[in-house]
Amino acid sequence: MVSRIIRENCGESVKVLGIYGSPRKGGNTELLLKELLRGCRDAGVEVEEVFLRDLKITPCLEIYACKKDGKCPIRDDMQLLYPKLVEVDALALASPVFFYAVSAHMKAFIDRCQALWARKYLLKQPISPGKPKRKGVFISVGGSKGSRIFEGPLLTMKYFFDSLDMIFYRSLLFREIDAPGEILEHPTAMAEAYALGKELAR
Ligand SMILES: Cc1cc2nc3c(=O)[nH]c(=O)nc-3n(C[C@H](O)[C@H](O)[C@H](O)COP(=O)(O)O)c2cc1C
Repeated sequence: MVSRIIRENCGESVKVLGIYGSPRKGGNTELLLKELLRGCRDAGVEVEEVFLRDLKITPCLEIYACKKDGKCPIRDDMQLLYPKLVEVDALALASPVFFYAVSAHMKAFIDRCQALWARKYLLKQPISPGKPKRKGVFISVGGSKGSRIFEGPLLTMKYFFDSLDMIFYRSLLFREIDAPGEILEHPTAMAEAYALGKELAR
């Protein structure tokens, strides 16, 4: 059974997919991504939202069937996401920092994109024919003020977006944001997210 996916059609050709990676409902990364997508909608683009915590996504099992045809044989909600990842013009991922990495929800999703990596690098197939300049953006927050907290997530995102044949266009990263909703007290974060959403529509 496929979990909640909200589709809002604003009638334009650009499509942005927002993927929420926090287990926490109404948390900081969720607030930021919602605001980014509000910017997209206001700019007239089609927006789709996926909450990973509502989906059943098994971690990669290293079956490697994807080496043959670029497809993952595991039958779960990830099958619903593959066609969307191929079709969208921009992808916005949001995850809190968990132990200097992305959340487990986000990591399971990313690892299952090994099938797309295989399509691109082993089978030499284009991921999204005719859409060479797709954009990927990453939103993250961490509770601490550590200078290196985003290093792991950023490296992961760099290679993830590359596998999807996307440019890693921009990241929005905020330190010392811990309690739920604390991001709302940040002087510029929500405005930055909204502005990036508008920019993605171009
Ligand atoms: C399991 C777990 C691991 C965490 N690891 C880190 C970390 O390594 N560095 C950090 O700065 N904050 C860490 N945090 C704090 C979260 O990044 C922070 O609370 C963030 O605001 C959560 O975002 P969310 O509301 O979108 O879920 C961790 C929190 C949890 C629950």
